[in-house]
Amino acid sequence: MFPEIRNVGVGLISVGWMGKLHAKAYTQLPLVYPELGIRPRLVIAADTEPGRIDYAKDVLGFAEGTTDYREVLAHPEVDVVSICAPNFLHAEIGIAAAKAGKHFWVEKPVGRGIEETEAVRSAAIEAGVHSSIGFNYRHAPAVEHARELVAKGKLGRITNVRAEFMAGYSAEPNGALSWRFNRALAGSGVLGDLFSHAADLCQYVVGPISAITALTSTIHTERPKVAMGQSTHFAVIQGGEMGQVENEDYAAALVRFAAGAGGEGAVGTIESSRVAVGRDCGYRIEVYGTEGSLKWDFERMNELQVVLGRKNDEQGYTTVIGSPRYGDYSRFQPGPGCAMGFDDLKVIEAKKFLVAVTGGEQLNSNIHDAASAAAIVSAAEASAADGQWKMVPVLGGTTAAGA
Ligand SMILES: NC(=O)c1ccc[n+]([C@@H]2O[C@H](COP(=O)([O-])OP(=O)(O)OC[C@H]3O[C@@H](n4cnc5c(N)ncnc54)[C@H](O)[C@@H]3O)[C@@H](O)[C@H]2O)c1
Repeated sequence: MFPEIRNVGVGLISVGWMGKLHAKAYTQLPLVYPELGIRPRLVIAADTEPGRIDYAKDVLGFAEGTTDYREVLAHPEVDVVSICAPNFLHAEIGIAAAKAGKHFWVEKPVGRGIEETEAVRSAAIEAGVHSSIGFNYRHAPAVEHARELVAKGKLGRITNVRAEFMAGYSAEPNGALSWRFNRALAGSGVLGDLFSHAADLCQYVVGPISAITALTSTIHTERPKVAMGQSTHFAVIQGGEMGQVENEDYAAALVRFAAGAGGEGAVGTIESSRVAVGRDCGYRIEVYGTEGSLKWDFERMNELQVVLGRKNDEQGYTTVIGSPRYGDYSRFQPGPGCAMGFDDLKVIEAKKFLVAVTGGEQLNSNIHDAASAAAIVSAAEASAADGQWKMVPVLGGTTAAGA
């Protein structure tokens, strides 16, 4: 028995790493979730680099390509838009998408700072379009299980959280000076890039953050230049012309959670680097409570380390492996212990987005969550500048306590 088919016309803006993953996710969606009857159709892709337009058409399967993103937003067959451009274009494109009445799935950090994220938020609210954000680590079945354990009170009252988003993509001093290092193109550095993911994960699993103090540093101040759209931010260039790194490589923060987030008085630390030698994707969250604790690391995405109870006969953490009991695992693998991957998280994200667009529940993070993460990043930047604690507004969205 097949459901009624709902065709959804997809436009893609920017065919870099994330653009490719969004396109793959739309293509996989009907295979992974056939009962939804949602059939994404890849209508048109935009990129300023002609080779990437060819890739979008010849490999990803888009019917049309363009160098002007406005043609994507004006296309009558486009119902939803994936915005996978560098950060400096998020606000311009997000606002234009909302005005064109297109629902959008936009990559984090949604602009170069809180003002731009707020402008996109206002435009989405005014236009009444659905928004979805690329906070993909939420969807790992082990993270969904962690969130459930916290929500059910299995860890008791949450006392503290340690989040570390430590990457090594620019650990090499001759790593390319991609758009990520330029303030006009990216805004902040690791704060917007990785710290924002960590802040979102803390809020998703435990609840809203209400105050922060932070410090930042830049380890490599010059890097070899690279042209936009020519390589990835993992590229290493020997002997190239050098340019200035304009934002931070490293950030560390102390945070307080809002009352009600996993219990009263929870506090925590968030640390993030893009130059950590040996920690390639060490994206980790640890949650400690009065009755138990848990640990998750993206490099071992399919495992959750859990202790329940203070006095166990067997001391130490139990490794809970991925299984059909947690999150959307069963959609990918029929039995426990078969690893899922990063791309699968994007398929789950595409599903959550298009379920909302086709009249179902809003399950993914939305523009309110993006604004909330941007407010935390912005407060961290301000704190790093003057050394003071900063209050953070609680902006709703789909965080643990705000759901
Ligand atoms: N969710 C995640 O885990 C995750 C991971 C990586 C990147 N991101 C985010 O995704 C976004 C894109 O990052 P990426 O790594 O895919 O970047 P990328 O550098 O791989 O690709 C960027 C693309 O944008 C194109 N572009 C530049 N100007 C354009 C314009 N005016 N119109 C259309 N296209 C244009 C470039 O040619 C390039 O193809 C960023 O906001 C980044 O923070 C999220």
